[in-house]
Amino acid sequence: ALPDAVTIWEVGARDGLQNEQEVVPLRVKLEFLDRLAASGLAVLEATSFVRPEWVPQLADATELLDRLHRVPGVRYPVLVPNMRGLDRALEAGVSDVAVFAAATESFTRRNLNRGLDEQFVMFDPVVRRAAADGLSVRGYVSMCFGDPWEGPVPIEQVVSVGKRLLEMGCTQLSLGDTIGVATPGHVTALLRAFTAAGIDLDRLAVHFHDTYGQALANTAAALRSGVRTVDSSAGGLGGCPYAKSATGNLATEDLVWMLDGMGIEHGVDLRALVDTSRWMAEQLGRPSPSGVVRALGS
Ligand code: HMG
Ligand code: MG
Repeated sequence: ALPDAVTIWEVGARDGLQNEQEVVPLRVKLEFLDRLAASGLAVLEATSFVRPEWVPQLADATELLDRLHRVPGVRYPVLVPNMRGLDRALEAGVSDVAVFAAATESFTRRNLNRGLDEQFVMFDPVVRRAAADGLSVRGYVSMCFGDPWEGPVPIEQVVSVGKRLLEMGCTQLSLGDTIGVATPGHVTALLRAFTAAGIDLDRLAVHFHDTYGQALANTAAALRSGVRTVDSSAGGLGGCPYAKSATGNLATEDLVWMLDGMGIEHGVDLRALVDTSRWMAEQLGRPSPSGVVRALGS
């Protein structure tokens, strides 16, 4: 059965921008977040407190949160990899954080400079401290379907990483198809495996990339399975700088168009969102890859 309503977890300001080569001015990032909130999105992943040498684009995280105009009712989660990141985030007054694990050794090495098991050693104190401080803690799992260096990723390996994050205290898991190779049958099988492991689908979100054009089909499969939180990026911005062949995230506009067609509530003003993505595309000097943005753009 399909859900009546879906929570859209907008990642444009973080996942969308982290891969941009040229540093986007802070005032543009702030206006982007303001406009996303004004379009009705209630969860805006804002930035990452990672090592600035690793993601120079997000080196302004502290200043961004300092100057951010927080709209009541909107959550602004941030990524934190370690205690240093959590300390910086707490100083900035955040109430929602996310750690970002991966299901493969190849990717944890490249993305976190840690092995598959070592990543849990790094996250454990972060999740404990964040939970003790009353923050919500999302746990991302990257490379849930395929990995550019290892190929197809075994379902049991993904479930095992996800379970460890939940046992550690994460409130939600986001299952990432970092390089966009998933197809609906694989999505259904993975979600079934989580259910079989005793994990309630209420605690799962899905995070698709559109590299092979399957992001919407995969989302529809996840919704049919019972998932109710979907990650997407305004205008389809994004990709991960440490994953070979990771291109755009599922575009929020494409998601909203599909949800409208399915009669599922989402709370977003599509027109305002399209205008925002067209404005952002102008800032970046490149048209949006989203079909809906192109179709509705004036
Ligand atoms: P490392 O180089 O191993 O760092 O990086 P370290 O732990 O050895 O520390 C070295 C120095 O860095 C120390 O300074 C630390 O203080 C400093 P020193 O004492 O030598 O002067 N440092 C920091 N400074 C500021 N903030 C911090 C921080 N941490 C250490 N948080 C580290 C390890 C995890 C930090 C690094 O690998 C990193 O920052 N990685 C982030 C990579 C990233 O952001 N990737 C993109 C997000 S994941 C993604 O996009 C996928 C997703 O969208 C889902 C999907 O699509 O599937 C989520
Ligand atoms: Mg991503």
